[in-house]
Amino acid sequence: MDVEQAKKEAGIAAVQFVESGMYIGLGTGSTVKHTVIEIGRAIREDGLEVTGVPTSIETEKLAIEHGIPLSNLTELGGLDLVIDGADEIDPSFNLIKGGGAALLREKIVAQASNRMIVVADDTKQVNQLGAFPLPIEITPFECEDTLRRISDICGVPARIRAKMNPTWRERLESMDSDVDVPSHITDNGNMIVDAGAGVPFIKDPETIESQLLHLAGVVEVGIFADMCDTVVLAGKSGVEILRLSDD
Ligand code: A5P
Repeated sequence: MDVEQAKKEAGIAAVQFVESGMYIGLGTGSTVKHTVIEIGRAIREDGLEVTGVPTSIETEKLAIEHGIPLSNLTELGGLDLVIDGADEIDPSFNLIKGGGAALLREKIVAQASNRMIVVADDTKQVNQLGAFPLPIEITPFECEDTLRRISDICGVPARIRAKMNPTWRERLESMDSDVDVPSHITDNGNMIVDAGAGVPFIKDPETIESQLLHLAGVVEVGIFADMCDTVVLAGKSGVEILRLSDD
């Protein structure tokens, strides 16, 4: 099974956790997009009744396209579960997220959910987090100074992400102006920094997370510690449901 097929199988398999009447957080990325599409199918064909809260503008558009009723945390108060992707998953189900720059909205939705289910292909499983560069959302003001402080805490180089968020690219293209909009702006108007050097550097996820969050200028960190209880993982041997209590 190639990685794209594994993402699709994991994304679809996670819909087994979705029941009628639930309020569901809808994650962001190329794996959970299959979950969103499958929930849309189940609404149309099987009479599933759910309300979703999207974690990005990209997911909001996808959910609308597939007929999923949407709301927000103010209206719903809390969610039954969130299904989302991950960039790395360690043996305690601590995660790196934010490869798609949606980490802030993803963490807000995850903290409002009774449980978090991660969908992933098996290349995302690691023994220690940090080979995947850690995404960190920061404010644009004095960003170079924040960047230096992030590098000091992490002990690895940190760089401002230069790739444009596709949603912003669309917005920029539709703007009738030559305003120089930075190419690394998130859905929230902030910047993304990636910290890493290709080797796992995060020995203690909760400590690094809290040290980074302590910095003025850091809005959110892509370490999701102690949030996920179930991983729907797909690879050569098919789809596996991994639960923390199985360890
Ligand atoms: C989005 O910001 C991320 O947290 C994604 O959930 C994560 O990068 C996994 O994405 P893929 O499913 O596309 O690998």
